[in-house]
Amino acid sequence: MGATLTLGWQMTDDNMPRSWLDGVNPLDRAEPLETYVVDADSLRNHSLLFAQSGSGKSFFVGRLIEEMALHTKARIVVLDPDSDYSLFHEPNLGIYDNPRYNALERSGVLPTERDAVKFTEPWKTVPIHHLSANLQIPVTKLVPHVFLGDLDQQANFAYASALMMAGRVASYLESNWESSKIELGVTCNSPTLDHVLRALDICVTASDRVVDVKRLGIKLGNHADNLAKEIARPGADPIALSKAHLELSASNSALEQELDNLARLTTEQALGFVKMQLRIAGTRLAVAHPSQNIFTRPDVYIVDTPTFSTTTMRASMLQHVVDELWDLHELEIRSGKLSTPTFLFIDEAHQIIPSDVFARPAASTTRESLRRIAAEGRKYGIYLFLISQRPDKLDPWVASECRNKIIMRVGNLRVFREAALAIGLTDAQTDELAEVVRFGTGRAFVLGPIAAAGNPQPDRTTGAAKFYVAARRTREGSAKLGAEWLGERI
Ligand SMILES: Nc1ncnc2c1ncn2[C@@H]1O[C@H](COP(=O)(O)OP(=O)(O)O)[C@@H](O)[C@H]1O
Ligand SMILES: [Mg+2]
Repeated sequence: MGATLTLGWQMTDDNMPRSWLDGVNPLDRAEPLETYVVDADSLRNHSLLFAQSGSGKSFFVGRLIEEMALHTKARIVVLDPDSDYSLFHEPNLGIYDNPRYNALERSGVLPTERDAVKFTEPWKTVPIHHLSANLQIPVTKLVPHVFLGDLDQQANFAYASALMMAGRVASYLESNWESSKIELGVTCNSPTLDHVLRALDICVTASDRVVDVKRLGIKLGNHADNLAKEIARPGADPIALSKAHLELSASNSALEQELDNLARLTTEQALGFVKMQLRIAGTRLAVAHPSQNIFTRPDVYIVDTPTFSTTTMRASMLQHVVDELWDLHELEIRSGKLSTPTFLFIDEAHQIIPSDVFARPAASTTRESLRRIAAEGRKYGIYLFLISQRPDKLDPWVASECRNKIIMRVGNLRVFREAALAIGLTDAQTDELAEVVRFGTGRAFVLGPIAAAGNPQPDRTTGAAKFYVAARRTREGSAKLGAEWLGERI
């Protein structure tokens, strides 16, 4: 392979970037640079980055993705819950003005190229897609595992079934649109959310009547009885159901009255919730599954998570993204040509792949899909890059599959020890790496294949290498609190 990624600067024993200490920009000198580089191929493993907030995680991941995007043709998908990469297409030119390391503050933004154009020119060739308002979730992907808090289990179950039903109705409309048009009384060319809602109403009414019709069977006579059988037929499609139901009610309007008086609370209630969810989701929901996979091209994709406003929508979006990637790679594997690997970056990974799914039921379906990627992803060419402040809350199953480990500053020794256990450091490594509690921003330890393929080589006893993270050259996205709030009001 041989692509080399420049991640940072070598450090002194005191964790300072060695090349920058004499106040002269090392990029002005002729000497070779004391950078820290890794072989891109070492990233074809699952990786886990663990550090506390403010340690420089997003800055490091930004730098890493820049290097990967510049020096490989990999597909890179970033789930971005904090809008850290919303400005990823914009170079941050300010870093080239007067780069230096401030030894008192022990910080500095330290680029590895002398001039902005050395970055901006090649960066123009990197295709970056921001998936936000333009990413629609097919109704069929709605994740039903959402508990409604104070509602009892039965109601939750009804809600989950109703969500699933919405998905089925949507896929039925999608594939039988021409024939369903007549029953729904519509003239347009493709199903919309309104049609799904309408079909849902019809189905629920029809399926409720099945029970009622059976109870009142004797009153109905033969014709109605046959219709009732049609309604009760397993696998009957929603439109056939509604058609049978319409005939049934037309055949006996007095009966209709009676049926209406029967209680059908649970289903109605559940359907009410689903309809509310569908309406809130609005244009973010696509009735039809996209005809082309959203990740077809080997580009950089930033998925702007906060634009999905409800838990259901965020969970469904995640499921959709993970399924699309899996489908794409599975298809390539089956056709015998795997074109390029995919790296899936997941920030706040302990929320998306939690050890305790009861605390986050919306995550349970996605956790299963991600476990499958953790177990089989290497075969399929999909690699996870997980970022978390709480690896002890991360699914241990997935955490144990991460061979590359990156550790930046951690708040205190207790937190570090718990996390070290969770990510599988040995006792000796835990003792040796405990200095991360004194790390300043931007310092990192790496372990595993990434360190083994790094230059300089890792420490022999710990297997770890450390470095000062070089400048992220794209603009940091999330709103950061400045110092303006300090001081008098007037
Ligand atoms: N290697 C670095 N060099 C210079 N500044 C850095 C470095 N790493 C982080 N910073 C700065 O420190 C702050 C916190 O970094 P950030 O990546 O947002 O932390 P985290 O994602 O861990 O919360 C940011 O303002 C960022 O610009
Ligand atoms: Mg961050």
